[in-house]
Amino acid sequence: LIKSVRALEILDSRGYPTVRVFIGLENGRVLAASVPSGASTGMHEAVELRDGDMARYRGKGVLKAVAHVNERIAPSLIGMDPTSQADIDGLLRALDGTPTKANLGANAVLGVSMAVARAGAEVTGLPLHMYLAGPTSARLPVPMMNIINGGRHADNTLDFQEFMVMPVGAPTFAEALRYGTETFHALKQMLKAKGYSTAVGDEGGFAPTFKSNEEACELIVDAIQAAGYRPGRDVAIALDPAATSFFDGFRYDLSKSGSGVKTSAEMTALYQQWIERYPIVSIEDGLAETDWDGFRAQTAALGSRLQIVGDDIYVTNPQFLTRGIRERTTNAALIKLNQIGTVTETIEAVALCRQEGWNFVVSHRSGETEDPFLADFAVAMGGGQIKTGSACRSERIAKYNRLLEIEAELGTAARFENPLVPR
Ligand code: PGA
Ligand code: ZN
Repeated sequence: LIKSVRALEILDSRGYPTVRVFIGLENGRVLAASVPSGASTGMHEAVELRDGDMARYRGKGVLKAVAHVNERIAPSLIGMDPTSQADIDGLLRALDGTPTKANLGANAVLGVSMAVARAGAEVTGLPLHMYLAGPTSARLPVPMMNIINGGRHADNTLDFQEFMVMPVGAPTFAEALRYGTETFHALKQMLKAKGYSTAVGDEGGFAPTFKSNEEACELIVDAIQAAGYRPGRDVAIALDPAATSFFDGFRYDLSKSGSGVKTSAEMTALYQQWIERYPIVSIEDGLAETDWDGFRAQTAALGSRLQIVGDDIYVTNPQFLTRGIRERTTNAALIKLNQIGTVTETIEAVALCRQEGWNFVVSHRSGETEDPFLADFAVAMGGGQIKTGSACRSERIAKYNRLLEIEAELGTAARFENPLVPR
């Protein structure tokens, strides 16, 4: 049974405070989990509680959320069985009392929910992914590796936030990670040769000043080849423009790269041109979170050739996802624990995708910690895709290293299949 619950203010990968929660068990073991934090957040995301005290961390402290764990959540959880995840998450929601966790803070609530999952795994003696999914959990995800950063994740000339490589042709996770990482290193060499900066953005991708958004795609194709892989066959491209961040309510403003403004239909036409030219297999948030009609038109036009992923538009919320499924808004969803705020609700969002035969991608945030929780979670959900950054920065690598470990532990039971349409 749960003997203690306490939280601590720690720092995330951008140096901003976040919440780490520790759950003590009767056997003396203490299990912990840390909460990530986004930069290009959807407007309907669960509320991340910040202190607003400008004397500390420019207002970004999380001492209120920490106090909520220690003073308001802990007393209700002590004595509970950590394997009753759904009951505990239900209790957390009731204690908060708002649909967006605005009262206690989604950072407080999620930290507890994740640490409880770890505690449950501990008492059952199972690795976290098997505890969450059952003993047959064995599917490793294809990584989406964000090797060029733009948008809100870098101060450069790219409008689009994420240019990712997906080693779709690899036979195992370990090989996929190698293909992607070698491509990352080949890209570094090419950038150097062109006199471009090889400094990295928030998710570990390169972030130089490019001539255009297109140049980023062209260099990635060249890097795939230079690393010895076939573009599209071995290593494909996935994009997350994060278009909400350059939508002004009417038009998509590509002025960061000097490409003018576009309508929703013009954006879809642009993506159509891009998929003719580059081996793109997935586009996430190609349009803004409010552009439901635009997304539906984009999915009708491109959905048979492309994975179209909704992130900001659904915010891992079963309510928005249900609408998306009904209206065929996209054909896949991004899944982020802290957008909704509990492990149980995140699993519900995944279950909805599964029911509809939708693909889903389990994702980190741009602000992360060294906690590899996401790796186990992605394997447990079994969707075959994870988005957790580039091939550098330890808060990203922690997830990849944990996936390597899971694959090795599973041995011959490990499965690895590309869930995407080949291009
Ligand atoms: P964020 O970016 O964590 O800054 O929101 C990730 C994404 O948009 O997928
Ligand atoms: Zn996104």
